[in-house]
Order: sequence, then structure tokens, then C-alpha cells
Amino acid sequence: MSLCLAALILTIVAEDKPTNTVSVSSNSPGLQSNTLQKLIKILEKYGLEEQRGLKRVYLSNRSITCNDGSQAGFYLRKSHGSKRWIIFLEGGWYCYDHKSCRNRWLKLRHLMTSTQWPETRDVGGLLSGNPEENPFWWNANHVFVPYCTSDSWSGTRTSPNDMFSFMGAEIVSQVVRDLIPLGLENASSLLLAGSSAGGIGVMLNLDHVQNLVHQELGLKHIAIRGVSDSGWFLDRAPYSPNGLSPVDAVHKGMELWKARIPHNCVVKHPDEPWRCYFGYRLYPTLTAPLFVFQWLFDEAQMSADNVGAPVTKQQWDYIHKMGDSLRQTFENVTAVFAPSCISHSVLTKRDWQLVKIDEVSLAQALHCWEQMPLGNHRNDTHSEIETNQPCTKSLRKLLRSGLTKNNGTLVQLGRAEKNNLSTETRKKSYSNGVVKIDEKGTSTTSGPERENKRRRRRKHKGRRRDRNKDGRTKKEKHERRKASGRRKSGKQSNDNNTHAGMFNGTRPQRSVIPNGKRKCIQGCHFRLIERCTWPQCNHSCPKLHNPFTGEEMDFIELLKSFGLDMKSVANALGIDIQTLNSMDHDELLNLLTQQAN
Ligand SMILES: *[C@@H]1O[C@H](CO)[C@@H](O)[C@H](O)[C@H]1NC(C)=O
Ligand SMILES: *[C@@H]1O[C@H](CO)[C@@H](O)[C@H](O)[C@H]1NC(C)=O
Ligand SMILES: *[C@@H]1O[C@H](CO)[C@@H](O)[C@H](O)[C@H]1NC(C)=O
Ligand SMILES: *[C@@H]1O[C@H](CO)[C@@H](O)[C@H](O)[C@H]1NC(C)=O
Ligand SMILES: *[C@@H]1O[C@H](CO)[C@@H](O)[C@H](O)[C@H]1NC(C)=O
Ligand SMILES: *[C@@H]1O[C@H](CO)[C@@H](O)[C@H](O)[C@H]1NC(C)=O
Ligand SMILES: *[C@@H]1O[C@H](CO)[C@@H](O)[C@H](O)[C@H]1NC(C)=O
Ligand SMILES: *[C@@H]1O[C@H](CO)[C@@H](O)[C@H](O)[C@H]1NC(C)=O
Ligand SMILES: *[C@@H]1O[C@H](CO)[C@@H](O)[C@H](O)[C@H]1NC(C)=O
Repeated sequence: MSLCLAALILTIVAEDKPTNTVSVSSNSPGLQSNTLQKLIKILEKYGLEEQRGLKRVYLSNRSITCNDGSQAGFYLRKSHGSKRWIIFLEGGWYCYDHKSCRNRWLKLRHLMTSTQWPETRDVGGLLSGNPEENPFWWNANHVFVPYCTSDSWSGTRTSPNDMFSFMGAEIVSQVVRDLIPLGLENASSLLLAGSSAGGIGVMLNLDHVQNLVHQELGLKHIAIRGVSDSGWFLDRAPYSPNGLSPVDAVHKGMELWKARIPHNCVVKHPDEPWRCYFGYRLYPTLTAPLFVFQWLFDEAQMSADNVGAPVTKQQWDYIHKMGDSLRQTFENVTAVFAPSCISHSVLTKRDWQLVKIDEVSLAQALHCWEQMPLGNHRNDTHSEIETNQPCTKSLRKLLRSGLTKNNGTLVQLGRAEKNNLSTETRKKSYSNGVVKIDEKGTSTTSGPERENKRRRRRKHKGRRRDRNKDGRTKKEKHERRKASGRRKSGKQSNDNNTHAGMFNGTRPQRSVIPNGKRKCIQGCHFRLIERCTWPQCNHSCPKLHNPFTGEEMDFIELLKSFGLDMKSVANALGIDIQTLNSMDHDELLNLLTQQAN
């Protein structure tokens, strides 16, 4: 369906000169503080008691500091019932030479000092203590490490002669050391997570943390894993060579920061160790398991590539290629979630659960991956587990069947490509700005699928927060939530019952599935790479924000910003412009997609 939509739009765009240009890319630091303020507001609405914040703790070693020499530290919320720990590294770009760092000091000082840190912080998504928002990890021990070193968490420079120090890598190690007596000692697992520059930080520090915990501290019972969110960048040539390319910036930065790069990777790239900042080069050298989340059209990547708001065919070609290149780099990655959206970072966003591919949410994928014994390398010569098993065959049974012995044998699970959905047959290629659709492609949008889409949209809307109104306890909610999370199957069900409630905005996961069926775990997917090559082609993409007004932009506005002229749309659809403008988003989308068939 969206394929046809894309075809229509591309045709229209090709015919009409762009009139309307709104920049859609915006930089992460601004976004994050914006998000934070929103979070605070949202929090005020809900029970603050339940949401007790994370408490500030300064590092025990005072010589490990932020850029400006102020004490570094972290925020902690302990959970006494849990042996699972999450350490989250914040993001926010970096600076790479004296000039860029001075600039940063003027404009983004809060990312270089701890002097303004509040006593407590509330963090959403993966670090939320609310089981509705964070069904699988709400009860874990949460650690949030603010980013104040501008070095992608890789620096070890203490030199007091320089204006700034860069001790990101030292901070990560010290956080781990300081957490040991606070309970990490008895942990069963440690998940090192991070967004944006923090996502790079995860990849750069993961093996080091594993060594520190397993070898140096001798705590081999703690399973170490990493989640890199929006930190998997490409070092391809920028769109316009205006300013410093990402490669050059990191190259310069490495020296300024006195960076600590994982040894295995440096050995592989002895002449160009800065290549190790790029996930696809670093990944094959990692020993600890890593889960990669990356928007196929990452705003930071587009901004780094200097491509700008895409209005010309050249820009679109560049962006499409960017998505293709990214997809290719995931070829050998075991655990990856890559939706086809324009956005940046996800893990600590309150609505992170809305992000889905093939009906599997990021949280579900991550949760199921966390329970798998796995390495980092896909091995096609080995057995694969078919993920669309009937419900009675639980994952545990499959595990017991010997396919996934935890003895270093690498298995591979959750390939989205294994799904035999109708989208499988779609293929398209671009040439001269026109979409070519193969014959199968045009016939893939069958009734049930469209129904699914509509339902999804409704669900999206109906999902707005109506929570915490009933008197249920956290525990109960958690249990129910857990059950519903596991229910998902890889198959698109034709079962009327399953979906009955969705049309009136209720949340059927909670009530429709009979209790007895809730136990089965199936459809454990953690390799999900969206197939459509059109950004924002999917309804589960997050809303875009107009960087100038901060207002949400909807899909249609996005299209306009890409140079879509609404008059031509109206013409193409055979309706007048007033009618078109007064239509709501869903209606219009429906119309567009139906017409395109
Ligand atoms: C504190 O950190 C600095 C810098 O890494 C290190 O040189 C020093 O040995 C540490 N001090 C202690 C007591 O661990
Ligand atoms: C870890 O568990 C042991 C044994 O129960 C206990 O003695 C110790 O205090 C615990 N460590 C921490 C940091 O809680
Ligand atoms: C994936 O692994 C195969 C076999 O080792 C290799 O030929 C291929 O280049 C790898 N792909 C990527 C993107 O690294
Ligand atoms: C959009 O997302 C849905 C579910 O998340 C998925 O089934 C569908 O294939 C996606 N659409 C495209 C064109 O990839
Ligand atoms: C994949 O499996 C084959 C056969 O067991 C083995 O020889 C090869 O080393 C494996 N590759 C990786 C990357 O683990
Ligand atoms: C792991 O276990 C499988 C199944 O028991 C066995 O075939 C394989 O040789 C083992 N691999 C290693 C590296 O021990
Ligand atoms: C996938 O679907 C196609 C078309 O419905 C069917 O011909 C094919 O046998 C299916 N393949 C599998 C593996 O189910
Ligand atoms: C769904 O409901 C329709 C209309 O009530 C019915 O004809 C159809 O058989 C049902 N499908 C299933 C799978 O139950
Ligand atoms: C929504 O649909 C469900 C399932 O059919 C039904 O139980 C519920 O009463 C409906 N709610 C409203 C407000 O119509």
C-alpha cells in the first residue's frame, strides 16, 4: 500500500516544483532538552509517588570529571527485588577541536558540566519505573549517566593544561566500579544502553566493561549485553562537502580526547583507528552481545552528511541510498531493529512502545533477545529456528531441543525475512525519480492487509494515556502486561476475535486473549529491518517536529515539506482543494492509498 502511495507522491513531486520547504532535520541536543521538559510535564499528570526519580550520585573518584573539571556522576534508582541492572549513557553529539568545544561551551554548556545537575531525574522508556510504559524493565535497577564529556564516551584525557578534560571512557568504568557495592555485585545481568553519542559509547565501552566485570572484578555471573540506540553511523561521503565530514571530525576528536578504542578493532584498522567509531566496522570485533537500534533515516546521520531537507531528486537519491547502505551493513548483525522512519533516538522516549515493525515492538524484540544465548554473528550455515512456530511449541522447548546450546555455537533467530507476509513479494527500484513496481507489487495490497493498517492507526490513536486510573497494583499490571507482550505472533492473524476490540479504541491485548493462552512464547523476533524504502512510509513512525515552532508535523505536512504540492494531489484525486484540506489525516491517507491501487 505505502508503495503505491510512494509511487503517487514521487510522480507528483517529479511533476511539480517544490514550493514549500520546511526543514525536518533537527539536532539532538535541542530535542533532548525539549523532550525532558515534556517528560516533566507528563510526570506531573501522573502519580509522582510511583514515579520516584533517579537520585544523583557523584563518582567516588573526584579526579574523574566533566569537561570543565566538575565532578562526574550518575543517577540511580535501585530496585530491591531485582538482579537486573541497566546503565544508560546519554547522548548529545560531541566536539572535536578547540573551536568546536569553545562553541559548545557557549551554546550547550549543560552538556559539559555537572554544576547544574538536579538532585533527581526522571527518565522515560527503558528507564521508566512505570510498568505501563516499560513492561519488561520497569522493575530493574536503573542507572542514568549524564553526558558531560563531549567525547562520545571514549576519552581518557585528564591533562589540566588543556582547557577541557575528556574522560568519558573513565566515567563509564568508574560508574561500574561505584555500583558494585551498591548492589551490582550480586546482579545477574547488566545491560549497557545508550542513545546517539551514548549509542556509540555503548559500542566503544562494551567489551571493556565486560572485561572489567568478568576479569578484573571477577564477577563472571553477571551477563553483559549492550544496546546501541541511534549510534550506528556510516562513514560514507557527505552529500555536500560543506564543513567537516563525520570521519574527519572523529579523526580529530580522537586525538583531542585521547580516546580509548577497543583493542580488537584497532588491530583491524591500525592505520585508521577512527573507523572504529562506526558501528559496522567495530561490530565484527566485539565479543559481548550487542543489539542495534537504528532509524533507517537517522536525522543525525542526515545532518552530519549535510543533506538538508530533501526537496530535490538528488537529495532523495542520496537519502534512499543512505537507507540502502545502512540495511546492507546489518547483513551480519544478529540483533537489529531498524524502522524506516526519519527520526533520532528512541530508548528513553515515553512512547517508545509505539515503534513497531511487523507488529513487533522494539521493547518486545529487545526483551526476547535478552533471553537468548547468543553471539554477535549470524551464521547461515547453522541451524535456524523457524520463528512462526505454532503456539504450543514454546521457545524454551526449542531451546531445549538443542539448537541453541550455550556453548559458543551461534544460532540465528528472528529473521524478519522469514515471515511469509504479502509484503515479501514487493520489490521496487528507483530510476529517474519514478518508482517501478514489479507485477507482484501492485497486487499485494489485499483486503486483510488494508484492514490491518487501518486497525493499526486506530490503535495508535486509542493508545493515548488513559492509565493509572483504575486501582490495580503495579504487580498485577506487570503480570498482565508481560502476558500480553508475549502473545504476539509473527503471523497476521485472520481471527476476528483477536482484533474485535481495536476498532473502538480499547486495548484488546488486555482482555481478549483467554488466560490459558497467555503462556506461550512465540514469534521471538529480534532481527527486524523494515523493507519499505520510503521514509515515514509506516504509521508507527514517531511524529516529526517542526524545528522552528516545535510543533508536531503530520505525514501530510512532511510530504509538503518534501515538495508535495497539495493542488496536484487534489487534481490527481479528482477532488477540490478545500475538500482535500479539510480531510483528516487518516481519511486522506486512505484515499491516497486506495487511489493508487
Ligand atoms: C582516579 O582516577 C584517576 C584517573 O583515571 C586515576 O589516575 C586514579 O588512580 C584514580 N584514583 C583512585 C583512588 O582510584
Ligand atoms: C551480595 O550478596 C551477599 C550474599 O547474600 C551479601 O553478603 C552481600 O552483602 C551482597 N552485596 C551487596 C553489594 O549487596
Ligand atoms: C557478512 O559476512 C560475509 C561472510 O563473512 C562477508 O562476505 C560479508 O562481506 C559480510 N557483510 C558485511 C556487510 O559485512
Ligand atoms: C509497516 O509496519 C507494519 C507493522 O508494523 C508492517 O507489517 C508493514 O510491513 C510495514 N510496512 C511496510 C511497507 O514496510
Ligand atoms: C559458522 O559455522 C561454520 C560451520 O559450523 C563454522 O565453520 C564457521 O566458523 C562459523 N562462522 C562463524 C562466523 O561463526
Ligand atoms: C555445542 O553443542 C552442540 C550440540 O550439542 C555440538 O554439536 C557442538 O559441537 C558444540 N560446540 C562446541 C563449540 O562445543
Ligand atoms: C509463502 O506464500 C506464498 C504465496 O502465498 C506461497 O506460495 C508459499 O508456499 C509460501 N511459502 C511458505 C514457506 O510458506
Ligand atoms: C470473521 O467474521 C466474518 C463475519 O462475521 C465471518 O464471515 C468470518 O468467517 C470470520 N472469520 C474468522 C476467521 O472467524
Ligand atoms: C469496544 O469493543 C469491545 C470488544 O468488542 C467491547 O467489549 C467494548 O464494550 C467496546 N467498548 C465501547 C466503548 O464500545
